[in-house]
Amino acid sequence: MYTEKVMDHFEHPRNMGEIENASGVGTVGNAKCGDIMRIYLDIDDSGIINDVKFKTFGCGAAVATSSMATELVKGKHINEAMKITNKAVMEALDGLPPVKVHCSLLAEEAIHAALWDYAQKNGIEIEGLEKPKSDIHEGEEDEEEEY
Ligand code: FES
Repeated sequence: MYTEKVMDHFEHPRNMGEIENASGVGTVGNAKCGDIMRIYLDIDDSGIINDVKFKTFGCGAAVATSSMATELVKGKHINEAMKITNKAVMEALDGLPPVKVHCSLLAEEAIHAALWDYAQKNGIEIEGLEKPKSDIHEGEEDEEEEY
């Protein structure tokens, strides 16, 4: 059912973890399967993604696509990272079963959400980037209330 590359990235995920004080963080979820993916980006002043990490609470294909997506964006300029689609992630994994295509979409959305967060924090626009639909914004409810 899964290609060797999918199994490899599932069993040995690259760039798993988190980045403290990341330049951009994106969290997305799929309402149907309940899976959640979070991407952390460390971006330097020239817009190069120096480091990227992910955390995924989800299926094996979600872990594999997150892992591959982090490999594809690492070292790239934000404008290039922006263009990496779920199709590119799937191709890099030698394909996914049709029922698992949405898992790769989650990876694309998580990258976009993290780029969006970075753009918002820095008051910039990234060409072609739109506000993510499914960004969960976890933690907002934990913010201290002012009295
Ligand atoms: Fe939903 Fe894989 S089954 S992300």
